[in-house]
Amino acid sequence: MDHIRNIVILTGAGISAESGLRTFRAEDGLWEDCRVEDVATPQAFRRDPELVQRFYDERRINVMAAEPNAAHHALARLDAEWKGKLLIVTQNIDDLHERAGARRVLHMHGEALSAWCTACDARHRWTGPLRDAPPCPACGAAALRPDIVWFGEMPYRMDEIYRALGVADLFVSIGTSGAVYPAAGFVQEARSHRVRTLELNLERSQGSQWFDETRLGPASELVPRWVEEILAA
Ligand code: APR
Repeated sequence: MDHIRNIVILTGAGISAESGLRTFRAEDGLWEDCRVEDVATPQAFRRDPELVQRFYDERRINVMAAEPNAAHHALARLDAEWKGKLLIVTQNIDDLHERAGARRVLHMHGEALSAWCTACDARHRWTGPLRDAPPCPACGAAALRPDIVWFGEMPYRMDEIYRALGVADLFVSIGTSGAVYPAAGFVQEARSHRVRTLELNLERSQGSQWFDETRLGPASELVPRWVEEILAA
């Protein structure tokens, strides 16, 4: 593997599947239970805030009950030992990367354990429910929403992500179906900068054709093996 200094990693729901957190588009996926339009758009929140708050209250409980798996721990080890630049961009709203010890994590779709006040814009770590409209600790308004990027909203810190992709030597996509943009377009962005691309996924994704290499299998096996390989190189 020619000299690799800077790495960008993209993770999706598949890396947390073995921690017991449901993915979105599998046959038992979250979007089989309820429609995106009903719980994951600003319009849905305006139409039925109670339903949306309950959906994310449940996500929050599941996230707190889950534990990081071997894939999260392997990325945390890479983060600790990697001397070059490393950015773990996650689409996931769980905190399993952080609980495994990773530091250089960017949540582009927000976080289940964060509440965002629509009155004063403050964000607060939040582990309880939001369905009973608790007051914002900063301004007191009953105006807290899940700090989640809904469909139709702009993901967080995109300029930082594209800057990292522009100077990367390797882009690794783990556990994502490549169904949702802008994340699904990161492999193309990487290729436009002649960055090597690797996909680690349970099955072929919608983006597999664009990767230099695709390895198929569970993240808990593929990720630790890849981290060993890259640290030994
Ligand atoms: N190991 C590796 N990959 C896995 C595993 C596993 N154990 N289990 C499932 N996968 C793969 C699936 O094959 C699939 O390609 O993870 C991917 C999960 O795809 P999705 O359910 O579409 O989740 P994701 O790609 O993260 O969705 C992206 O869509 O709904 C929005 O905001 C939501 O962040 C989410 C975004």
